[in-house]
Amino acid sequence: MITYTDIAADQMICLQCGAPLIKEETYSCAACHKDYPHLHGVPLFVSNEEEYIAGMAKQYADFAQQKEAELGELEQAFENRPLRQVYWQQLRKALSGNNELIGTLVNMLCERASPAALLRTKSSPVTAAVLKDFQYLKRDWCWLEEGELQLSEILGPLEEVINEAISDRENILVAGAGVGRIAVELCGYFEKVYATDLSFSMLWFFQQLLKGASINFHEINYANILQDTYVARELTASYHAPFSGYTLPEVNDKLFCYISDILHSPHKDGSISAFCSAYFTDVLALKLLLPEVKRLLKPGGVFIHLGPLGYGFEDVGEKLAANEIRAAFIRAGFEVVREEVIRCNHLESDLSMQTVTLKNWLVVFRKMEYVQQPIVDATIFGVCEGIKYEVRGRLEEDIPMDQIMIRTADGEAVIIAELAFDILRFLATPQTFETLISHLDSCYEIEAPSMIADVLLHLESLKVINRI
Ligand SMILES: C[S@@+](CC[C@H](N)C(=O)[O-])C[C@H]1O[C@@H](n2cnc3c(N)ncnc32)[C@H](O)[C@@H]1O
Repeated sequence: MITYTDIAADQMICLQCGAPLIKEETYSCAACHKDYPHLHGVPLFVSNEEEYIAGMAKQYADFAQQKEAELGELEQAFENRPLRQVYWQQLRKALSGNNELIGTLVNMLCERASPAALLRTKSSPVTAAVLKDFQYLKRDWCWLEEGELQLSEILGPLEEVINEAISDRENILVAGAGVGRIAVELCGYFEKVYATDLSFSMLWFFQQLLKGASINFHEINYANILQDTYVARELTASYHAPFSGYTLPEVNDKLFCYISDILHSPHKDGSISAFCSAYFTDVLALKLLLPEVKRLLKPGGVFIHLGPLGYGFEDVGEKLAANEIRAAFIRAGFEVVREEVIRCNHLESDLSMQTVTLKNWLVVFRKMEYVQQPIVDATIFGVCEGIKYEVRGRLEEDIPMDQIMIRTADGEAVIIAELAFDILRFLATPQTFETLISHLDSCYEIEAPSMIADVLLHLESLKVINRI
């Protein structure tokens, strides 16, 4: 039987030096021996654990403090409101219960945080993250009609896309997996599921559920309620049979959940079959996410986006529309496989007078496989349109080679050496491979034409030259 730790070890690499990781009690690098400890049972793959733990501890402590202060203020506000006591008592119980749970997380993190790192850590404003945990626990693991309906509305089309358009099912990386229900459902379609998130609490809750534990918390609805008793309701999250039908041992065999920043993920280049970005693409600027997606995916691997584009960051310059995201993927060498819009109501409940309808964009981009055609003497090459270059100075004093920056029509920058630059100069008018070799023979000592062929294939893969 494969255990999830074996699954992880064969694919993961050190964030510091890129060598493979080995699994003993925890993970460590086979080459530089960097350790990747667990944080309360959740594997932690970040370059600086001290900083990560202190940052999280501070964030949750600030959040807990803010919630305690809010409770104190409400206590005063409701003091002389005898007619609102049903609402207030219900709300107070819910807020205190949730604060207790947040307090547990703070204690767990502070226990592992180094005092020096805590002192160095500044307060960050991202404290709303904890509230999102409760929202996702409610949708994913409380087995409420509204959560299951919403999940079935989005997972049905996702399942169809996987069945029709994705043949390589070796593995899937679920980015920003949250409390993991979507990742669990994907176990039905992929041999290995990597569920990763930057949030300790999301994955700690997820891991508790995977161990068979229950989590009690409260949903709070301050407004849009028909009855004062609806202001809060106690919910229990627990693992039951999901749509995929997978039992806990089956899921634990297939799925590996770990903390990491998706922008620095511990996987080899070209090792991922599918990258799932459900309600996640709008969390980070695409200019940061796309290069990592491209690095991780195998040739022919797919990126699946599911969700609206609400954007959780401030920079308006990076809030791309769907067509701009599509164009960016195409420029980066992807093709569109499927695209549709799926409507669903977000946790529509009888308790609330408000319904939010989401129009989820479901799109699948495939990373195109670059198939190298062999080069023969008569193969004609020319320089692609829109190529610009600039000389950026000498590489090294004693090597007579300039560092030359080529800019492709897509705006991508490529550094090449002088030999490649000479090739480009000569190919300004298209030439056969044979004439190119005889031209270069007069200026360089070319040991074998295959060496030039390799340079040409590389320039071709970079879209700097093409065949005519
Ligand atoms: C909107 S939630 C979506 C959760 C999940 N995909 C779902 O639909 O159930 C976004 C998630 O991204 C995580 N996240 C934010 N920045 C991240 C990063 N740089 N790397 C990995 N996860 C990140 C958050 O912690 C959060 O769990």
